[in-house]
Amino acid sequence: MSPHTTHAWTPESWQQRPAAQQPTYPDAALLQQSLEQLATLPPLVTSWEVNSLRQQIARAQVGECFVLQGGDCAESFDDCRPEIIANRLKVLLQMSLVMVHGLRQRIVRIGRFAGQYAKPRSADIETRDGVSLPSYRGDLVNAPAFTEAARVPDPRRMIEGHARSAMTINFVRGLIDGGFADLHHPEYWDLEWVQHSPLAADYQRMVDTLGDSVRFMETLAGQPVGELSRVDFFTSHEALLLWYEQAHTRQVPRAPGWYNLATHFPWIGMRTAEIGGAHVEYCRGIRNPMGVKVGPKMTADWVSDLCRILNPDNEAGRLTLIHRMGSDNIGDHLPRLIEAVHRAGHRVLWVCDPMHGNTESTPSGLKTRPFERIMSEVEQAFAIHKACGSRLGGVHLELTGEDVTECTGGARNLSHADLERAYRSTVDPRLNYEQALEMAMKIARVAG
Ligand code: PEP
Ligand code: CO
Repeated sequence: MSPHTTHAWTPESWQQRPAAQQPTYPDAALLQQSLEQLATLPPLVTSWEVNSLRQQIARAQVGECFVLQGGDCAESFDDCRPEIIANRLKVLLQMSLVMVHGLRQRIVRIGRFAGQYAKPRSADIETRDGVSLPSYRGDLVNAPAFTEAARVPDPRRMIEGHARSAMTINFVRGLIDGGFADLHHPEYWDLEWVQHSPLAADYQRMVDTLGDSVRFMETLAGQPVGELSRVDFFTSHEALLLWYEQAHTRQVPRAPGWYNLATHFPWIGMRTAEIGGAHVEYCRGIRNPMGVKVGPKMTADWVSDLCRILNPDNEAGRLTLIHRMGSDNIGDHLPRLIEAVHRAGHRVLWVCDPMHGNTESTPSGLKTRPFERIMSEVEQAFAIHKACGSRLGGVHLELTGEDVTECTGGARNLSHADLERAYRSTVDPRLNYEQALEMAMKIARVAG
């Protein structure tokens, strides 16, 4: 029996477990004070929305819809700006439109935003020219500049992170409720800089076809089809900084259990998925649907134990396994994990993250990802699931609506030299708008 199932869960019980990837706050009183303040602030999402997402993921598990999860590797406080938020939303909307068209399925949209502010790091300390400082762990913890003042973890950043997440989600909700996502007006989502894209004509043809279908349906029905004028948008982030997650763990009237109301969909990262660890302990007790990243080093027993601990009642919609193997490894590792999960009868949604297993460095030291390897991992994922009698139910991508050059390849065939032009990520390389749309078009073709 695992240590997780033999004792009572509380929002604080993770503190009794080894907690990987946590900052050391030098001022314990300030931490306490910040957490108390955070716990009194309004939540970012509601339990109704969280429950609605759980139901939609349950539908994706039985093949009725497909999940598109995407956004920055890490948000930054500076990027909490209307044009950046709107552009990211535009990309996700355009991608989902392409995917609805190709897959003939509803798309469940989950942004990596409104709280994706904490990052796991390979080392606690970074040393430059003989000076050692704490590693940058995301804006929720410290700041990237290599100075003592920037790098010392400051718990007040959690309050700032909550505020910026609230501003982000408020703007997204306002856009969506105001009609920005209305299928009758896909021109609202056009991004200026792609008018001359090699993909523009294909995309426009598809939008025109969809527009014709919408008008045809509405003529038949004799009225506007309500579902088309608004879409749901959900938020997600890595549940990494457990103090922050704990402060957002709330009970609500008339619904049993505890909810993390900082996000609809928290996920456990690959580096913090140990069975006896604090992150698994924290996540097992909340009612949210959640993801766990599954890497090539995970054994079948490990994945089965995660399913048993995080979803002891085998509840529909509760658990999503996000595999991130790398295009060279997926063929060796995914089949055995699918078989083990299916053999044990665990109900999960399988999602492919083709980004994190395909990261490499250029000769000049930039982190990049070749578009072709990302695409290859997605294609293999569809085929492997099919061959194993399973189904790939979603994709998880790092992308931005900005004209960055961080991943190589794609329709414009970006080279290592092109990366120097507009490399902006402080962490992992993201697909730019055009590469993201191309990815959606290819996925629609492969899966449609
Ligand atoms: C991430 O999603 O940014 C991340 C760090 O992923 P992983 O835990 O899969 O490495
Ligand atoms: Co990342």
